[in-house]
Amino acid sequence: MAQKKKILVLNGPNLNLLGTRQPEIYGKLTLAQIEKKVRALAKEIGVEVDFRQSNSEGELVTWIQQAAGKFRALVINPAAYTHTSLAMRDAISAVGIPAVEIHLSNIHQREPFRHHSFIAEVAVGQIAGFGVESYLLGLRAAVQMIF
Ligand code: DQA
Repeated sequence: MAQKKKILVLNGPNLNLLGTRQPEIYGKLTLAQIEKKVRALAKEIGVEVDFRQSNSEGELVTWIQQAAGKFRALVINPAAYTHTSLAMRDAISAVGIPAVEIHLSNIHQREPFRHHSFIAEVAVGQIAGFGVESYLLGLRAAVQMIF
């Protein structure tokens, strides 16, 4: 059997609190429930996913760096680091792995400080506002890019 394409799904700070964190904005699903849906779709479309979350910017940067040579694409919800992290942006452009930026909420409809994304400048595209569907659409977009 041909080797499966591997996709790294990264989640930034506070996403470990999903389920109880502002459900009116982020929905009622926990991150573990989102992961289950992502894994089910990955199985259906024949790709392998590694699904991780960290509250630490440095850890996320290290994971992006280590993805080189191991993963074909990144699907990333950088959470609040979207709006602040030059380091994550630089890591994505340094490794040169195509990245899809995703958000549960529509960041462009929210507070002005959420409208700018450092990640969008180096991502292939951005999917925002579809709740858990943003993850599934993001995975499909990543697969389209690499096949
Ligand atoms: C988020 C949007 C960000 O502005 C926010 O800081 C998050 C989650 C989203 O998925 O909608 O933590 O990335």
